[in-house]
Amino acid sequence: MIISHLVARSANNIIGSNNDLPWSLKDDLLHFKSYTLHKPILMGRKTFESIGRPLPNRTSIVITSKKFESMDGVLTSDSIEGGFQLAKDIFPEEVIVIGGGEIFQATIELANKLVISEVDCVIDGDISYPDINLSDWRKELIGEYAKNNSNEFAFKIFAYERKD
Ligand SMILES: NC(=O)c1ccc[n+]([C@@H]2O[C@H](COP(=O)([O-])OP(=O)(O)OC[C@H]3O[C@@H](n4cnc5c(N)ncnc54)[C@H](OP(=O)(O)O)[C@@H]3O)[C@@H](O)[C@H]2O)c1
Repeated sequence: MIISHLVARSANNIIGSNNDLPWSLKDDLLHFKSYTLHKPILMGRKTFESIGRPLPNRTSIVITSKKFESMDGVLTSDSIEGGFQLAKDIFPEEVIVIGGGEIFQATIELANKLVISEVDCVIDGDISYPDINLSDWRKELIGEYAKNNSNEFAFKIFAYERKD
């Protein structure tokens, strides 16, 4: 099974601030939507709360130690391993880990694909992506967007596949 990370990070590796994204990037949200549609997305409870609702046409798997209100399109697990098992039962090909910092850190060693929007900014924030050694990964540019009215910063999207 492909275990992928889908993330946008700044040049100083920031991914979040005050339980929100630190930027407004419309084209990255469209990329997020097209990459995740009809696949299971696994996230921490704080990221689910930050999004604020189940995303349509995808199963959200929320990792939490707390009791969680049941919602259409949302499954919960009290462990990451349990969450991966739920994902595998739905769609054995790929589970997409969508954050946040705690869940990326806990799954980075298991991930075999990273889809990273490298955002052209140095920004303040309180949540970082794990440090990764890029020489362990094969890199391919899959998208490039300019700064404009829809995107607060320019960004490039790379797919990284783990080298054998
Ligand atoms: N730039 C991006 O691409 C991106 C993507 C996603 C999120 N973000 C940002 O990241 C931030 C949120 O990240 P975060 O690190 O604060 O939180 P998070 O990883 O979204 O969620 C953390 C929560 O997940 C649960 N959890 C984690 N590990 C667990 C385990 N092993 N077993 C059971 N539950 C576990 C706990 O929930 P309970 O406390 O309920 O037990 C924990 O409090 C926000 O600012 C968000 O906007 C950015």
